[in-house]
Amino acid sequence: MPRIAYVNGRYVRHRDAVVHVEDRGYQFADGVYEVCEVRAGRLVDERRHMQRLARSLDELSIAWPLSPSAVAVILREVVRLNRIGNGIVYLQVTRGVAPRNHAFPNPAVRPSMVVTARELDRAAMDEKAAHGISVITVPENRWDRVDIKTVGLLPNVLAKQTAKEAGAYEAWFVDRDGFVTEGSSTNAWIVTRDGVLVTRPAEHGILRGVTRSVIFAFAEREGIRLEERAFTLEEAQAAREAFMTGASTIVLPIISVDGKRIANGKPGPVAGKLRSVYHHHAEVAPA
Ligand code: PDD
Repeated sequence: MPRIAYVNGRYVRHRDAVVHVEDRGYQFADGVYEVCEVRAGRLVDERRHMQRLARSLDELSIAWPLSPSAVAVILREVVRLNRIGNGIVYLQVTRGVAPRNHAFPNPAVRPSMVVTARELDRAAMDEKAAHGISVITVPENRWDRVDIKTVGLLPNVLAKQTAKEAGAYEAWFVDRDGFVTEGSSTNAWIVTRDGVLVTRPAEHGILRGVTRSVIFAFAEREGIRLEERAFTLEEAQAAREAFMTGASTIVLPIISVDGKRIANGKPGPVAGKLRSVYHHHAEVAPA
């Protein structure tokens, strides 16, 4: 069965899925994206992902390429055509194709939209979760609008590569005051010695993760103490637990940060519980 992608109005074979060389996403990273988990063929937390997409588009004054309901149909169609059971669907919208000029094209051009999907190896991810992963830190070097989910991810790419070369799975950015902001493609969390769940406020310096928002709702319902505040690298290294969250990884326990073992070096119970109950609390969209 060939892989199928959606590109600007057409469903095409993945290998033929191309955009124009003067697409502003290609030349300027002038575009936004979403990654939505697919579980048993259904979109997870689609509503929150679409809300965030709307916000990202609005912040950059990019128009919706199609109505939100048409986008919803295309996401489902790409999942169906590729027979995705458990995986992710990727949606990207750019300002469109125009002669290379930094200023927005005037008059505006039609935004470009592509959608791809792929199956993920859940068993491999569960295995990773069972053992826990290592994180290294890198200096925060991104712009201050990381709350917008843009495709401008070069610092994130370099950070992840640094982690990989160090034998770690994720890199945490640390700001100039010594506080952890977030991972290259995940939000960062700790559980303090007193059992308090801590993660950085999303007003500034991080992406407001959808997975993060679901865990907030869960913690509130379960009466788990949660503090939305920044934490330092040292605090993380002295924590009872650390973990990261994102649509493609859900919850992954962290067992070391910059080579320093977290607690006993084993995945902690809070991360384990959050991982196991996550899908009871996330919204799974109709097919
Ligand atoms: N990344 N922080 C950053 C910088 C991210 O890129 C992501 C998501 C998150 C977590 O957000 P969410 O819970 O909504 O997935 C936090 C996606 C998965 C990616 O780029 O592949």
